[in-house]
Amino acid sequence: MASSGTTFFILIAVWVAAGNAKNPFVKIECNTKNGEYGHQSLLECVVKTTREVEGAVIRIVTWTKEGAEQPLLFFNRGKLQQEPGYRFAEPSWNDNNMNISLLIAETKVADDGDYTCMVITDSGDDSSLTSLNVKATYRDPTVHSIPEKISEDANNDLICNADGGYPKGQLRWFDEHNEEWTKSAEMDVRKTDNGLFQLSSTLTLLKGSRFSKYTCVVFNATGGKEGSTTFEMPPISGGLGASGGLNHSSKIVAPVIVIGSLIVGLLLALLIYRRRSRNARRPSTAPLMGDHQRGRAEEFDAEQGHLQKTEGEDSQP
Ligand SMILES: *[C@@H]1O[C@H](CO)[C@@H](O)[C@H](O)[C@H]1NC(C)=O
Ligand SMILES: *[C@@H]1O[C@H](CO)[C@@H](O)[C@H](O)[C@H]1NC(C)=O
Repeated sequence: MASSGTTFFILIAVWVAAGNAKNPFVKIECNTKNGEYGHQSLLECVVKTTREVEGAVIRIVTWTKEGAEQPLLFFNRGKLQQEPGYRFAEPSWNDNNMNISLLIAETKVADDGDYTCMVITDSGDDSSLTSLNVKATYRDPTVHSIPEKISEDANNDLICNADGGYPKGQLRWFDEHNEEWTKSAEMDVRKTDNGLFQLSSTLTLLKGSRFSKYTCVVFNATGGKEGSTTFEMPPISGGLGASGGLNHSSKIVAPVIVIGSLIVGLLLALLIYRRRSRNARRPSTAPLMGDHQRGRAEEFDAEQGHLQKTEGEDSQP
């Protein structure tokens, strides 16, 4: 490894010492692209030769990340050295293939930056700078309150967290009328081990001045909206005290009690009404009913007697 590194530096030194004479026949053309974190990235560079040097053969190719000592890829007269995770994009590349693109198998944050691609052919040489912009999309934010139970007569904090993004983004707050409250919040930015950002924003809600909903939105480095989460404030508990408010069972019990007492009330009213109307009729009807009943009883007895009599007559003879 050490010898190949030395060879590489000697080559570069020779190449620079040669006056870096720009060969008019050989040129590297590169395309700058964005890389997605955790996915493959292609650093696309192609060697263009003029008609005069058609069929040029490549002797040396190097791919070096800015600031790194060792090249990621080093091809030297048939010998190919590649760092794990970095290789020629062309599956079976050979020294006649002018597509010298570099493929990064799994893009990391550390891959973000500038790269130098250098080629030496039997007909001239060139080098080119290209860059990779690594991007990672933030996960949807989460919002929670501190203290967990929102209190009406104290200040509360809403905390919004979004992580897994790159480059550095921003968290912003909006109420239900889409009014922005970011100025009342404080953002904290942390870098995780893998280089991705962890954003955290604290919005302080003063007692007495708050809305029913707060939405935390995560914006990426170029101001694009990536995700949002809405926090709904619990309903104002008012004078009901018992800070827990109505629990589930009392929500069911309350209507039952209301309907139950209504029914009982109606029944009572009906009972009282009936009793009153009966009392009101009694003085006049009672004697009448008494006479009537007495009369009916006499009639009945007479009838019975008659019936018994007739029965007796029938059975006796
Ligand atoms: C170079 O090769 C890669 C991998 O095969 C391919 O995706 C890319 O389109 C090629 N570029 C050109 C300009 O041919
Ligand atoms: C930001 O988001 C916009 C819109 O979704 C997108 O077009 C852009 O590429 C993103 N930029 C970064 C740096 O992630």
